[in-house]
Amino acid sequence: MDTSGIIKKIEEYKKEAEEFKSVNIEEIEQFRIRFLGKKGVLNSLFNEFKNIPPEEKKKTGQLINELKQYVSDKIETLKREGEQKLSGQKKARDLSLPSEHIILGSRHPISIVKNEIIDIFSRLGFYVSEGPEIEDDWHVFSALNFPEEHPARDMQDTFFIEQNPDILLRTHTSSVQVRVMESEKPPLRTISPGRVFRSEAISARSHCIFHQVEGLYIDKNVSFSDLKQTLDYFAKEMFGEKTEIRLRPSFFPFTEPSGELDISCNCEGKGCNLCKYTGWLEILGCGMVDPNVLSACGIDNNKYSGFAFGMGIERIALLKYNIKDIRLYFENDVRFLRQFTSAL
Ligand code: DAH
Repeated sequence: MDTSGIIKKIEEYKKEAEEFKSVNIEEIEQFRIRFLGKKGVLNSLFNEFKNIPPEEKKKTGQLINELKQYVSDKIETLKREGEQKLSGQKKARDLSLPSEHIILGSRHPISIVKNEIIDIFSRLGFYVSEGPEIEDDWHVFSALNFPEEHPARDMQDTFFIEQNPDILLRTHTSSVQVRVMESEKPPLRTISPGRVFRSEAISARSHCIFHQVEGLYIDKNVSFSDLKQTLDYFAKEMFGEKTEIRLRPSFFPFTEPSGELDISCNCEGKGCNLCKYTGWLEILGCGMVDPNVLSACGIDNNKYSGFAFGMGIERIALLKYNIKDIRLYFENDVRFLRQFTSAL
């Protein structure tokens, strides 16, 4: 038998294999089937190979094997190139796709409520004033008419700085009213939001750090009915039109008379756990500024009178959002924080 025919065929198939270029998976598979499939080129060459004379077998066999190796290697290489191209395409950015979702943060509930309080009082002409968190005894206690032996000055309530009884972390934002009265001339109409500190055990209901908003109004002829009207407006704006207020007599060294303000509970007097079946919830302390405080701050108490009030922001937020544990405000768990949204 003449072997030049089969050798020529092998050469032609080699050329065909060399010219094949696609990296398309389906086309590579077609190529594989054509060459390496059961009825493919190589099997037919091996069939032909059986009939050639033994002395020609070595050379022809070698050529067929080389072709088989070449085709197998080529398939592997093309497949790899195809995969690389595909993953490259995946990485390339499609600029027509919508942009990646950005998770927006949300304001802390304490900030939301603080801003809401500022917003409500600013509608009544109150402006914001601030004071230092590290204070002296005068601004936190003495100017506010706290007697020398008042228990609020006790180590248990107050964080003193380096054992110096004169320098302390303010226990209330009432210290800011002193600073405003000392530095500005009446009429004064200000609110002072800020952080306060008390040496208290941390529990669901109390914390050693919390936030207050202090309010102060000083002018000629300010009366208790002005205070009542202002707080009624605040309560309705904050908790809803239907909210009723109630003032109970109380005591604070810096106000005379002093009161505590309750708002009607949402259970509408039916009684619930929140209001402890009283139908009322306490929200702030208030009163007419004690004449001693006015004079300590350099304001003529014969000419001027005023009212003041102070509320805990955590407590207002607790009531507004029905939160049971004050510690949640300080843990910064995003699952908690994400629930609050606000325009303010
Ligand atoms: N400073 C008080 C407190 O921390 C709150 C307060 C009560 C402030 C009555 C006032 C007020 O201005 O008039 O408990």
